[in-house]
Amino acid sequence: MGSSRMSKSLNQIVLPVAGGTALALSVALVVANLDYGQNKISSLEQRVEQATLQAEAAGRKASEEAAVVADLQAKIADLQAFAKETAARGTDLTEKAPKKDTGYGLGREALIAEIAAWDVDVLPDGRGLPAGRGDVFTGEEVFADKCASCHGDFAEGVDNWPVLAGGFDTLADKDPVKTVGSYWPYLSTVWDYVHRSMPFGEAQTLTADETYAIVAYILYSNDLVDDDFELSHENFSSFDMYNKDGFVVDDRPDREYARWSTEPCMENCKPSVEITMRATFLNVTPEEGDETLMNHAAVEDAPTFVANTATTDSGGDKEVPDTAPLAADPALVAAGEKVFKKCKACHAVGDGAKNKSGPQLNGLMGRMMGSVDGFKYSKAFKAAMEEGRVWNEVELTAFLAKPKAYMKGTKMSFAGIRKDQDLTAVIEFLRTTSE
Ligand code: HEC
Ligand code: HEC
Repeated sequence: MGSSRMSKSLNQIVLPVAGGTALALSVALVVANLDYGQNKISSLEQRVEQATLQAEAAGRKASEEAAVVADLQAKIADLQAFAKETAARGTDLTEKAPKKDTGYGLGREALIAEIAAWDVDVLPDGRGLPAGRGDVFTGEEVFADKCASCHGDFAEGVDNWPVLAGGFDTLADKDPVKTVGSYWPYLSTVWDYVHRSMPFGEAQTLTADETYAIVAYILYSNDLVDDDFELSHENFSSFDMYNKDGFVVDDRPDREYARWSTEPCMENCKPSVEITMRATFLNVTPEEGDETLMNHAAVEDAPTFVANTATTDSGGDKEVPDTAPLAADPALVAAGEKVFKKCKACHAVGDGAKNKSGPQLNGLMGRMMGSVDGFKYSKAFKAAMEEGRVWNEVELTAFLAKPKAYMKGTKMSFAGIRKDQDLTAVIEFLRTTSE
C-alpha cells in the first residue's frame, strides 16, 4: 500500500527536522496514514522535499552566523590580549590620576599612543600632515581598487554614490553639482576626509602615501592637475583649490560671528562654581562590581559637594544634604505624596518624624541603609549598613518595586509598587524630605 511506504519514509525525515517543520510533517504523516489518493501523496512528497531544502538552508545560515560569532570572539580575545599586554608593560589603566589641588582627581593622563590615534586632523595650512607622497598614476590604481566601486572609475559616482569630479560653475544653478573640484575650498579637507573616513566601511585603512596618491588622482579627475602631478607634504599647502574664494566669513553684526570673534573669557568668568548633583543620581556612574577600566571612586575619596540651595556665605554651619534636588517637579511630588499613603501605616516623614513599625524616612536620598538610630532593623539591613550601602534613585527603585526580591530577609511586609510612574513619583516625593 502506498501509504505505508510513505509513512516509513516520512518517519525517517520527521526525526531530524526540528520545530514547526516537524509539526507540519507530523500532520502530514497522519494525513498520509489516512490512505489518501496517490496525487495527495505526491504533493505531500513535494512538501517534504521543500521542508528538507528549507532545513538545509537554515543549517547553512546557522553556520554562517557561527562564523561571524567566532570572528567577533577572536576580536574580543585580541582586545583582551592587548589590555593584558598593556598592563604587563606596567601601564596601569586603572591607576588613579594624581590628586591635584585644583580639579577633582578624576580620570588619568591620556597615553601618547591614545592621543596620536585621535590626533589625525589636517589643517588648511598643512599642519597635521604626515610626511609622504603619491602621484596620479599610483592614485589611479589605488582608486580603482578601493574607491571606484562606489565613486566610479573617473570619480563620476556610481548610481547615487557621491560624485567627486566635475560640476564646475554649477554652484549658482538650481541643482548645483557640488564636488571636490567644484565646491571644496581646501585641499586639506580632501586629504583629511579620505584618510579619516574612506573607503566607506573600512575607514582609516589607507596609508599616508596611498592618500597622497588618491588625492592627486581626484585632482586629476577634476582637470586641476596634469597626469605627471605628484602630491606630497612639501607642495601640499601651495596648491589652491578652484573654489577657494567661494566661501566668505559672514561677519554681519547680527550673526554669530560677531559674538565668537571676541576674546573668550578663560579665567574667573563666573563668581562661583557649584556642583549641584552627584553623577550617581543622574545614573551615569557604573554600579559596583561592573567590569570597567574606569577608576572606582570610593566614598571616602569623594570630594564634598555643595548643594545649589546652599549660599556660599553660609559658613558651613548649616547642614545641607549633598543630595538636595536640583529642582523638584511639584506635580510629581504631589503625585508621590499620594502614593506615599501606602507607606504611611509604617513610615513617617517630615518635621519630627518618629519611627513607627518602619523607620522614619527623612533625608533618605544619600542616607546609609539601615542607619536610623533606635530602629531595630532586620539582619539584611544591618548587613547593608555594614557594607556602607547608600540609598539612591537606582537602589530605591529596585527596592520599592520588589522589596523582598531586592533585600532578602527584609521585614518590610510590602509587596512592592507595580506602576513605574508611581515609583518615580514616590521617589521624587522622598527626595524632598530633609532631615
Ligand atoms: C562602499 C562605498 C564607498 C567606497 C568604497 C568609498 N566611498 Fe567615498 N563615499 C561613500 C559615501 C556613502 C559617501 C558619503 C558619505 C557621507 O555623506 O556621510 C562618500 C563620500 C566621499 C567623499 C566626499 C564627497 C562629498 O562631496 O561630500 C569623498 C572625497 C570620498 N568619498 C572619497 C573616497 C575615496 C578616495 C575612496 C577610496 C579610498 C572612497 N571614497 C571609497 C561611499 C564610498
Ligand atoms: C507594613 C509596613 C510597611 C509598609 C507598608 C512599608 N514599609 Fe518600608 N519598611 C518597613 C520595615 C519594617 C522596614 C525595615 C526593614 C528591615 O529592617 O528589614 C522598612 C524599611 C524601609 C526602607 C529602608 C529604610 C532604611 O533606613 O534603610 C525604605 C526606604 C522603605 N521602607 C520605604 C518604604 C516605602 C516608600 C513604602 C511605601 C511605598 C514602604 N516602605 C512601605 C515597613 C513597611
